[in-house]
Amino acid sequence: MMKLKQTYTVTGNRKPVLLAGNGISARILKCTLEHESEYYVAGVVGDNKQAGQCSDLADLPFFNVESRTIDEDTPVFMAVGYSGLNMRRAEFFNRLCSNGWNIESYISSRAIVLTEGIGKGCLIMPSSVIEPGAVVGADTVVWGGAYISHDSIIGSHCWLASGCVTGGSAKIGNHTFLGINSSVVNDISVGAYNFIGTAASVTKNTGDRDLVLGPKSIRPAWDAVEFARSIGF
Ligand SMILES: CC(C)(COP(=O)(O)OP(=O)(O)OC[C@H]1O[C@@H](n2cnc3c(N)ncnc32)[C@H](O)[C@@H]1OP(=O)(O)O)[C@@H](O)C(=O)NCCC(=O)NCCS
Repeated sequence: MMKLKQTYTVTGNRKPVLLAGNGISARILKCTLEHESEYYVAGVVGDNKQAGQCSDLADLPFFNVESRTIDEDTPVFMAVGYSGLNMRRAEFFNRLCSNGWNIESYISSRAIVLTEGIGKGCLIMPSSVIEPGAVVGADTVVWGGAYISHDSIIGSHCWLASGCVTGGSAKIGNHTFLGINSSVVNDISVGAYNFIGTAASVTKNTGDRDLVLGPKSIRPAWDAVEFARSIGF
């Protein structure tokens, strides 16, 4: 795999942090932390060093979730994806809690967060915006560029992908996935365990385990360069 070019220098008294997870989310989070935060990644917590491991994390110390052998105050950031409608991450989060790991939330210094209402174990990634009065439940991931409007209530164990928007006072139930560029308009409630597909717009309340898909892409069998030329691009 191609190595990322190191475009920054790690200096100063950075604080150690552990990542719970060793897949793609952990790889991206490690890169984000090294780029912009006061933390350095001191290790990875999981069940099995090999399972799902990204090569960028292979040289880090590994700690088994069941046997904590590191300073108990070391913060742990959740770094697990959305598989199984976030159930895999939720299960891991609960095991980390019951084993006494010090789970904290990571709030990027490049996110705009105008609320104190961020639960434990959240990731608030760069360029996301969370307006005043909004609440985000535990173990929820707000990916870069997501926009949570004022007084929205986001449940626990959710995943809000890039470019998704919740309007003012929207409610999102536990475990729900909001896809890239989806929207939930103001005052609308989305149930728990919903899958809201990319570019879907939710304008009516949904129940639990509902599925809302966006418009299908139109793919005419035209040559894109010819098409662009025909419309003056
Ligand atoms: C729903 C989604 C997964 C479908 O992806 P896809 O590549 O179109 O998948 P497929 O083509 O295999 O479609 C699966 C089925 O859903 C149907 N489907 C897909 N999009 C649909 C839509 N917008 N409306 C109606 N049906 C749709 C397809 O017809 C297909 O059914 P079929 O097998 O009976 O024909 C995708 O649109 C999506 O929302 N992904 C979320 C991505 C995202 O936000 N990722 C975040 C990363 S951080």
